[in-house]
Amino acid sequence: LRIAVLASGRGSNLRALLEARDRGELDAQFVGLFSDKPESGAVRTAREHGIPVVAAKPRDFASRAEHDEFLFSRIEAVQPDLIVCAGYMRLISEAAVRRTTGRMINIHPSLLPNYPGLDTHARALAAGDGEHGASVHVVIPELDAGPVLAQVRVPVLAGDNADTLAQRVLAREHALLVETVKAIADGRLRLGADVIGYRDAAL
Ligand code: GRF
Repeated sequence: LRIAVLASGRGSNLRALLEARDRGELDAQFVGLFSDKPESGAVRTAREHGIPVVAAKPRDFASRAEHDEFLFSRIEAVQPDLIVCAGYMRLISEAAVRRTTGRMINIHPSLLPNYPGLDTHARALAAGDGEHGASVHVVIPELDAGPVLAQVRVPVLAGDNADTLAQRVLAREHALLVETVKAIADGRLRLGADVIGYRDAAL
């Protein structure tokens, strides 16, 4: 399976995928790491693993659409079977999302449809939720709103703050993302506008 990864941060989800590949658990070729943050840990990790990197700062582009066009034309050029957003912290324009035809997934630190967007751990704590978690979903133009492929539930513990909860969730995200990508790699899970049953409106 040819996988392109989009990431902006430390890259622990990227690393989890690479470690699964190195353990022989995941039959995948990583065809590129695409980032808005050239100095990020994810970029460094990709380079350490010999994965081609395309990093482009949004401020070097006149608009969001041009920055997306730069990245997504280069993503298309490596012909991925799957695009994984692993901590990509930019809103992706509708035009760019449509180009991925239901083959882009995202890992989000909440039990969707609860808490789309940012600061999910603080919001779950503020709501007094007894559990929180993470979701892998198909990316559609609306933020954090596409069909959920897999979820993991994580207990909220007494004395938790946003950091301790985020840490507990992040540890479980790695296995969730790896298991979902493995299912896609071995055909147990099929993606694509046709399979997900998207009408044109969504994609
Ligand atoms: C993860 O919590 C992910 O769910 C969210 O951003 C974080 C990325 O972490 N989208 P990392 O860069 O993979 O360590």
